[in-house]
Amino acid sequence: MATTSILSLADKIKKETTHGSLSSGHSHARLLQLVDELKLAVETPTETILRLIYQPPENAALRTVVDLAIFPLLVERAGKGVSATEISMCTGAERDLIVRLMRVMTSLGLCASFKPEVYYATEKSITLTQPIGRDGVQCIYDLTAPTLSKLSEYLRQHNYTNPKEYSACPMQWTIGQSQFEWLAKNTQHQALFNSYMSSRREGRPNWFDVYPVERLMDGAIHHSEAVFLVDIGGNQGHDLVKLHARFLNASGRLILQDIPEIASSVKRPGIEAMGYSFFDPQPIKGARAYYFRAIFHDWPDRICQKILLNTVSAMDPRYSRIIIVDFVLSDTNVPRMQSAMDIQMMSIGAGVERSKRQWVDLLASVGLKVNGIWNTSPGMESIIEVVPDLTE
Ligand SMILES: C[S@@+](CC[C@H](N)C(=O)[O-])C[C@H]1O[C@@H](n2cnc3c(N)ncnc32)[C@H](O)[C@@H]1O
Repeated sequence: MATTSILSLADKIKKETTHGSLSSGHSHARLLQLVDELKLAVETPTETILRLIYQPPENAALRTVVDLAIFPLLVERAGKGVSATEISMCTGAERDLIVRLMRVMTSLGLCASFKPEVYYATEKSITLTQPIGRDGVQCIYDLTAPTLSKLSEYLRQHNYTNPKEYSACPMQWTIGQSQFEWLAKNTQHQALFNSYMSSRREGRPNWFDVYPVERLMDGAIHHSEAVFLVDIGGNQGHDLVKLHARFLNASGRLILQDIPEIASSVKRPGIEAMGYSFFDPQPIKGARAYYFRAIFHDWPDRICQKILLNTVSAMDPRYSRIIIVDFVLSDTNVPRMQSAMDIQMMSIGAGVERSKRQWVDLLASVGLKVNGIWNTSPGMESIIEVVPDLTE
């Protein structure tokens, strides 16, 4: 353990906490990075490896505790604590099993335990009762765990080639379906997925707070039929609801598109929902903006090109823009969640989290160019404004 590096990191953390603005995305990301570095500096190499080896049982225990709805019990009795016996009576699970599972939750900091076998809610427990925790844990674990457990075998059998085909991705090989077919067949998980999608950016800046949206509003055509923005693959319309709430009808129609099974259930004031597959030519012509959030990371380049070309066919080349909200990976020190998400997207659909170079190459391959990239934190998705490249 190198004491000097620990002290130097502790000093940097102190400085960042004292002088950085903790509400700023960059400062928050820097602090998290320093804390990770500090943990690595304190841990021996053996401890680091053991921590990694024992992550899967932690996730499996968390999935079970969410299944048993134990966090809502803790939150209901905030301050008083709930004993293992009471949890056992409420859930029907054997008391000794509860003790074993809750030991993991306490060690992960997801609840507290000041007395033996009594558990108290923390801020993190509350988040686990909300859609992001409750629905996200269930949906993402069930969607990905079977495939991730077979990923190394898949890659070995495929001679360590990078998965490039949605229809032959690791999830397809493992369970015979890729993510969207699996969700369509598992309606309960589809509902959890939709809820997770709507909630996973709570408390984070909206895309239109990061991107100067007047770039779209200034110069937008104003007449009753003019479409301001089409949210393609917009799920339940959560992003459009926020845009509408902020700007009301200031700039024209707002259209939500998703596969018919999803779009048909969406009824939101100020938003027109429409069933549409982005594998077909875009029917809404000449909109000011075609917006894709967390879409292209689901797919390999060949399919992204198809989606982009279907969009380009509807664009007014001098008026319309494509707005992409996705991660733009840095060339060094990619944050843990983004690098892990890349492996997840690879597994469930041959998808990719892309670096700036990969985005530029992908877009150029279909005659598009990047006008600008906006971001407030390395841990957050970026906003990429894209237009047809009209230079010869
Ligand atoms: C990762 S989610 C992103 C949802 C939303 N844009 C967000 O960021 O919260 C991907 C979305 O793409 C939709 N989708 C999948 N295949 C599609 C297709 N062929 N055409 C249109 N939407 C599709 C899914 O139903 C889902 O809502």
